[in-house]
Amino acid sequence: MLSLTHDAVIDAMRTVQEPELGRDLISLDMVKNVEIDGSALRMTIELTTPACPLKDEIERTTRAALGAIGATEIQIAWGAMVRRAQPRQAEQLVPGVKNIIAVASGKGGVGKSTVSVNLAVALAQAGATVGLLDGDITGPNVPLMMGLEGQPKASANNKITPLERYGVKTISIQFFVPEGQPIVWRGPLIGGAIQQFLRDVDWGELDYLVIDLPPGTSDAQLTLAQAVPISGAVLVTTPQEVSLADVGKALAMFQRMSVPVIGVVENMTAFACPHCGELTEIFGRGGGERFATTHGVEYLGGVPLDVTVRQGGDVGVPAVAQREPGPAAKALTSIAQTVAARMSVRAAQNIGQPVLTIS
Ligand SMILES: Nc1ncnc2c1ncn2[C@@H]1O[C@H](COP(=O)(O)OP(=O)(O)O)[C@@H](O)[C@H]1O
Ligand SMILES: [Mg+2]
Ligand SMILES: [Zn+2]
Repeated sequence: MLSLTHDAVIDAMRTVQEPELGRDLISLDMVKNVEIDGSALRMTIELTTPACPLKDEIERTTRAALGAIGATEIQIAWGAMVRRAQPRQAEQLVPGVKNIIAVASGKGGVGKSTVSVNLAVALAQAGATVGLLDGDITGPNVPLMMGLEGQPKASANNKITPLERYGVKTISIQFFVPEGQPIVWRGPLIGGAIQQFLRDVDWGELDYLVIDLPPGTSDAQLTLAQAVPISGAVLVTTPQEVSLADVGKALAMFQRMSVPVIGVVENMTAFACPHCGELTEIFGRGGGERFATTHGVEYLGGVPLDVTVRQGGDVGVPAVAQREPGPAAKALTSIAQTVAARMSVRAAQNIGQPVLTIS
């Protein structure tokens, strides 16, 4: 009876690509615990994110490659090890955080907080460790959307313990001010406040920290983009021209500051009828996608106007956490997977960067 060798299995796995990263699973160090018993084998494949959208494809190609060398019984266990796409400066500020994803928009009211909250919850649902920082200091509505209130306590190491719901560690300035009291911040202070939240909150080990940034492209945003080590920015727009024009300014700002932009989400893309689910494109078609093409950034997807999003937001149940995910929740989950996948690519690029040698 055929007995597989360890070398043959490894060689076969060298032909299996991580489609996102364009490299094979062996050179990416994703194959672990190979155990061979005659023609049967077992292995663990360690994905670069638990929210990997390409798991099925990887499984298919793995089974084909191992089948081709005569494996008859293949057991795959799945693991995930999120890699660090953080710039160096982040290590001092938030040593345990592997990826900071900032959600930004040019205008307010386009769904920036909605996208931030659902992105965070969807990543946590996939099995990642996730934090959410409400960086919209002047209009903090993350607590409402997450259904969180109360005052965070001090942790053993004298930091602030974030409040947790839906598996997401959350912090907001709202937790520290009496209800109904307006929060007045001068622009330059906002960056400092967010930096302080990064430093003084007990985030622990996080695969992803999502930051809901304040809207706009004023001085405040500029200092902020400088103060916060962002590994990738997600831009949110609606299909309307005014919103697209403003998100263009936000994009230009990030590019000027050399903050990597992951892509653009078009929110309120179409209206999802609560009765029959039919989609109507109230604000016209394809604005976000055209914007992405014109500006050479990725279109991450569209989220329809869906009444359950607004209702859930108002009572602290994010769309992706609702019992029956509607069209918007499905879109948001898929966007979260794409964002996670793109962060993996960034992390792999960091690792695989050629070392310059001077001869
Ligand atoms: N896709 C959507 N469908 C329905 N309502 C939405 C959608 N996106 C956002 N909303 C609602 O629109 C309002 C503004 O969204 P929000 O996320 O607070 O915007 P921003 O943070 O950009 O100011 C909120 O009441 C929210 O619930
Ligand atoms: Mg908001
Ligand atoms: Zn209908």
